[in-house]
Amino acid sequence: MTKKIVLLAGDGIGPEIMTEAVKVLKAVSEKHKISFKFQEDFIGGCAIDEYGVPLANSTLEKCKAADAVLMGAVGGPKWDNLDSAIRPEKGLLKIRYEMGLYANLRPAILYPQLAEASTLKSEIVAGLDILIVRELTGGIYFGEPRGIRLLDNGERQGYNTYVYSESEIERIGRTAFEMARKRSGKVCSVDKANVLEATVLWREIIQSLAKEYPDVELSHMYVDNAAMQLVRAPKQFDVIVTGNMFGDILSDTAAMLTGSIGMLPSASLNAEGKGLYEPVHGSAPDIAGQNIANPLATILSAAMMLKYSLDEPEAAATIENAVGAVLDQGLRSADIYSEGATKATTSEMGDAVVAAVNNA
Ligand code: IPM
Ligand code: MG
Repeated sequence: MTKKIVLLAGDGIGPEIMTEAVKVLKAVSEKHKISFKFQEDFIGGCAIDEYGVPLANSTLEKCKAADAVLMGAVGGPKWDNLDSAIRPEKGLLKIRYEMGLYANLRPAILYPQLAEASTLKSEIVAGLDILIVRELTGGIYFGEPRGIRLLDNGERQGYNTYVYSESEIERIGRTAFEMARKRSGKVCSVDKANVLEATVLWREIIQSLAKEYPDVELSHMYVDNAAMQLVRAPKQFDVIVTGNMFGDILSDTAAMLTGSIGMLPSASLNAEGKGLYEPVHGSAPDIAGQNIANPLATILSAAMMLKYSLDEPEAAATIENAVGAVLDQGLRSADIYSEGATKATTSEMGDAVVAAVNNA
């Protein structure tokens, strides 16, 4: 059966890295006899230019009707001064919310070939394999009321609301426990229960859910300590489950453990297992159009898409192995380059992955 995939390349380096991911998907489709139908559309700044809004309803409907969505990145200086209601990032937040993509999986795996590329000592990060499970459709990102209001004294005040309901906490908790079962069986729930009531409830719900998963070892950590532990001794973690904002911050930290944020893929899934797949890094406008961005995070996101939404785990493994093979060959984009390696452009990295897929 043909798998329908919507491609939302977005802004900045988005189109360049998407081109490479599509090349790799085409190679995999031949190898594993999978038929894909790609539909391109706009999100973020390019959608503002095209449709006047960062995510058109027609695009959203197309995404809902597809088997999966592969995205590049959104945002850039061109759209920075727009009203906050139509900024490029709103398109991403809208698609996450409207498709109900509450479970954001952000694996941080250190490829042994890149141990030297991390800014941390290699013995701290060698063998690192953690999974951040970030709640993606709730918390302070979506809580109401929010805004900037005028106080009686004439001063303006900005405000947001940190909210989590029991059911929202429970479903993301379940995702984390289920994932941990397939890994080394440990979940660390990150909160700020010493200060924020919303996370007191978070901790309580996660604790009671743990009774259903006696085979999984649960621990709790305050977010400030978790940030420190991630750079002090990251290998103590297996699955980290946390809310939207803490997950946003901790996943960038975790990215650096692996050498470069240019290596990190992500999956955002809804209750039906449909998903949006995107690299964790952003649109990097400073290097856009130069053919130097690292396409591997997007290529690895395509692998996650094959695994989680398209039921093609073997094709996913082919891509992951091909990425490993390219790193073995010593090819490195600028962000992961270290002395003695061969510097490669965006398209050279993509071509090398394609070749490795074909040779698999
Ligand atoms: C991410 C990004 C987004 C977020 C931005 C672009 C809205 O930082 O996916 O981590 O904050 O969720
Ligand atoms: Mg982020």
